[in-house]
Amino acid sequence: MPKKIGAIEEPTEEIKEEVKEEKAPDVTMDFQKLISDLLLATKRENIDELVKYMAEIGFFTAPCSGGNHLCKTGGLAEHSYNVCEKARSIAKALIPENEYTQELDNSIVIAALLHELGKCGDYGKQMYVENILKSGKQSDAKPYKRNSDLSAVPHAIRSVKIATLYIDLTEDEEWAILCHDGLYDFMKYEMQGHETPLQLIIHWADMWACHVLEKDDKESEEKE
Ligand SMILES: [Fe+2]
Ligand SMILES: [Fe+2]
Repeated sequence: MPKKIGAIEEPTEEIKEEVKEEKAPDVTMDFQKLISDLLLATKRENIDELVKYMAEIGFFTAPCSGGNHLCKTGGLAEHSYNVCEKARSIAKALIPENEYTQELDNSIVIAALLHELGKCGDYGKQMYVENILKSGKQSDAKPYKRNSDLSAVPHAIRSVKIATLYIDLTEDEEWAILCHDGLYDFMKYEMQGHETPLQLIIHWADMWACHVLEKDDKESEEKE
């Protein structure tokens, strides 16, 4: 029986564990290894080459945003891992066990871990560069800014482009990556009426990661 504190029952150990699970993962987690292992386990042809290329272009060290969620070294990898974990949780809650196939799990892992691949930038240029103030110091409020030398191709398009340099995406994975920002971004009109289970799972996992797990004092995610 839970201990009583006044009229309020102290949460059980199980409840404490559940609450703890909703917090961002420990910063000491090795996201490069976790992500690499998850991608390699899909056994998608040439995925090992893509993982190597991701390391080369700075996927595992890039920030996830300029001044919002996970705007720090390694933030992009941490966010991608969070989305993958939550996408699997959502899918397992919604999809009957006998329909949760290995193929579906592979698509969830690939779409979730690669949805922001384009935030690495392209053509040898990072999407985010340090935001250095006139004082010469890096801004605390917004440590990174968009690289003005890089074209403004939406990062979701870039994600598909970079991934398909090495691996084939299924049509559904491509759609899920392109529409991961749902009605908040450039695919909003194309997406309406054409939602798919994978796309919805990735979108809501992304929203949960950004706005619950990785939430800081700022209210909105930078949409770039
Ligand atoms: Fe995004
Ligand atoms: Fe995201």
